[in-house]
Amino acid sequence: MAILLPGGAGYIGSHTAVELLNKGKEIIIIDNFSNSKPEVLDKIKEITGKDFKFYEMDYLDKEKLSKVFEENKIDSVINFAGFKAVGESVQKPLEYYINNISGCLVLLETMKKYGVKKFIFSSSATVYGDPETIPITEDSKTGGTTNPYGTTKLFIEQILKDLYKADNTWDICILRYFNPVGSHESGLIGEEPQGVPNNLMPYIARVAVGTLKELSIFGNDYDTEDGTGVRDYIHVVDLAKGHVCALDKLDKEGKGLYIYNLGTGKGYSVLDMVKAFEKATGKKVPYKIAPRREGDIATCYADPKKAKEELGWEATKTLEDMCRDSWRYIEKNS
Ligand code: WQD
Repeated sequence: MAILLPGGAGYIGSHTAVELLNKGKEIIIIDNFSNSKPEVLDKIKEITGKDFKFYEMDYLDKEKLSKVFEENKIDSVINFAGFKAVGESVQKPLEYYINNISGCLVLLETMKKYGVKKFIFSSSATVYGDPETIPITEDSKTGGTTNPYGTTKLFIEQILKDLYKADNTWDICILRYFNPVGSHESGLIGEEPQGVPNNLMPYIARVAVGTLKELSIFGNDYDTEDGTGVRDYIHVVDLAKGHVCALDKLDKEGKGLYIYNLGTGKGYSVLDMVKAFEKATGKKVPYKIAPRREGDIATCYADPKKAKEELGWEATKTLEDMCRDSWRYIEKNS
């Protein structure tokens, strides 16, 4: 029985594909390469020494998707497909709502048609909006998202809750990622943002490699220790392993809708990240203080206790690992 990975050639999808193959699982990837490259598939095979089936297609294509379910014995789906650039989502709300929400609906409808009811969804800490209390537990209030990207995650979570309420034979796991960074230690796969990166770590790495001149730190007057924004950065390989644990839980226990934070439980400021990156790589990261970025919050980090207790999962990689591995990928691939 295979696990279907829509968006499996992307940043988090490719790292999860590696972890699943390493565990001896059979996977099938579908991807339209809208934000990834075909070479990634060979890299996954190179890292794991394992082969898998691949379909180049859009997950909104109902007919092609049905064919994938007809041609294979699929047992579960982990959905990584979706647009993820916060700023772009403000400019192109319809594209985001159609691709992320309609795509997920087509996927769920097709799963239902073929009697496949085990589903893991890539959600985000962004569903908590501006959190009232820190650290954030899974019971913290959701809502108040500040951009269409975040709202797609919130809406899909609601769709999944409604679906489970109507039919509790579904097994659903919602994983709320905090700030994924880093890359596989081989340096073969990693984050490949198109154009100028929006997220902190890829931006820092491009400043260090010399593609970008300096980092703009968005605000140093937040109510945090050094005034810069605090986030819960999590190594993408730890995050990928979280999916394997979530799948194990659904395989063994099933019958439920589960929600887990995937974070480390530690918050680091932008300045902490700059310093840690310089220390881990020996590279200088010039920066300037710039105005706050619209929609940003001061502090966001997880309470990861529930995932530890119920999934037996916890992040093990350090900030140094995150910086070193991000750098290795950029050095190898620029
Ligand atoms: C982190 C910190 C910035 C860039 C977003 C999405 C979230 C998830 C991850 C994914 C903040 C500061 C950043 C820069 C800076 N989505 N910063 N200069 O905003 O926490 O989360 O990405 O795909 O859903 O909302 O992450 O990496 O953009 O920012 O000072 O050039 O770094 O202000 O404090 P964020 P980020």
